Amino acid sequence: MSKQDSFETDSDTGDLNEIEQLDKEHVFGTWSYQKEVQPTQVVDADGVRFTDADGNDFIDFSSQLMCSNLGHSAEKVEEAIAEQASKVGYVAPSYTTEVRAKLGQKLAEVTPGDLSKTFFSTSGTEAVEAAIKIARFYTGKQKIISRYRSYHGATYGSISVTGDPRRLESEPGIPGTIKAPDPYAYGSTLDPMESLEYIDEMLELEGNTVAAVLVEPIVGSNGILVPPDEYLPRLKEIAHDHGALLICDEVMAGFGRTGEWFGCDVFDVEPDIMTMAKGLTGAYQPLGATIVNSEIAEHFDENMFCHGHTYAGHPVAVAAGLATIETYQEENLIERANEIGKYLGAQIDKLAEKHPSVGETRGVGLFRGIELTKHSEKRVPFGEREDKINPGSTVVDEVSATAYESGTYVANMINTLIIAPPLTITKDEIDEAINAIDVGLDVSDNAMKQ
Ligand SMILES: Cc1ncc(COP(=O)(O)O)c(C=O)c1O
Repeated sequence: MSKQDSFETDSDTGDLNEIEQLDKEHVFGTWSYQKEVQPTQVVDADGVRFTDADGNDFIDFSSQLMCSNLGHSAEKVEEAIAEQASKVGYVAPSYTTEVRAKLGQKLAEVTPGDLSKTFFSTSGTEAVEAAIKIARFYTGKQKIISRYRSYHGATYGSISVTGDPRRLESEPGIPGTIKAPDPYAYGSTLDPMESLEYIDEMLELEGNTVAAVLVEPIVGSNGILVPPDEYLPRLKEIAHDHGALLICDEVMAGFGRTGEWFGCDVFDVEPDIMTMAKGLTGAYQPLGATIVNSEIAEHFDENMFCHGHTYAGHPVAVAAGLATIETYQEENLIERANEIGKYLGAQIDKLAEKHPSVGETRGVGLFRGIELTKHSEKRVPFGEREDKINPGSTVVDEVSATAYESGTYVANMINTLIIAPPLTITKDEIDEAINAIDVGLDVSDNAMKQ
């Protein structure tokens, strides 16, 4: 992988092959200083592995950008894409297709409670963008409260509600966005439940002007932050007490990653609006979705749903979505993620016992984080928030790069390794990847002594 997307794993700045050079010259590397971009050509991907142009195989321990939930050999999805492309490759959103209607029905079935009507787009960013507009249209209010340690997307609305440092270059952003503290016992001065009561006070002080509170139920790229069990139910209560909606951004946590269908299912909470992408098609096609409860849906019977895209409900993308959800169901992958996730958690905990530079391990199911520290007794991060937008690499990047040299791709962000393998991974493959991270963590252990 490249430094692109800031999930750097390869610190090697060696020679690029012809394709990689062409790419570097003509294609922007995302979220990067272009001179640092080192694109790695991937020529094959199979099961939980992918292969570079030199023939090196890597275990994909982060499902690329935490999205290839089915791994790289999901035949049913591959066939559905080919079949739909040859049958009806595209029609305008005012038409429908069997696959679009059935995917809408399927999402109503697998999402919690009364969530029932979906707007389809092409990315997580667009799913969040739609959620913001829907919340504003429905409530007639403008403000959105989100949290500092969050990522919700790259376009102006979604980056404005994003808390992480990638927002800063795009400020001032859209008006009416307010940031709240996070449930992050290890790294915040506030206790998680104190941070929640702070949101209550924010809502109180903002008066009746907040349309929605938007959260990742389990924070993904900002460090795999799992709140206490009572956090999300109480957040919904707090939001509703102040006439605000609860939006759960399930773009990363959704579709089995946590061992449940959705992150909010871990806490038995039904949001008013939910956003999805990534695992929705196992990343086989770009597809985003924003689902709302029936009360919000009915609001738009008499009020214009003033939103859309040329590719809303693109037939090939929704065909992939339908086949992906059927695969989760037919192969019991959600239950499997729950089971094998316990094994993964146990192996990660063993790493923590062995390596003093592991400060904290967090996570559920196949959604886990290893946060590093320079000091065994207290949190002294190797990677700071500003490193996300500064040039150069950190010790955390070096840990990932060393694991990569040992055959495992593991993403990292700021100070945490992000472990999110395909739901199809086996125990042997987990062991192999854990061994590579074990080698990587020697780098951070050694850096503690410097
Ligand atoms: C929670 C969350 N929301 C939204 C997004 C944006 O999705 P996309 O990159 O598909 O636009 C991401 C991407 O990582 C995400 O993790």
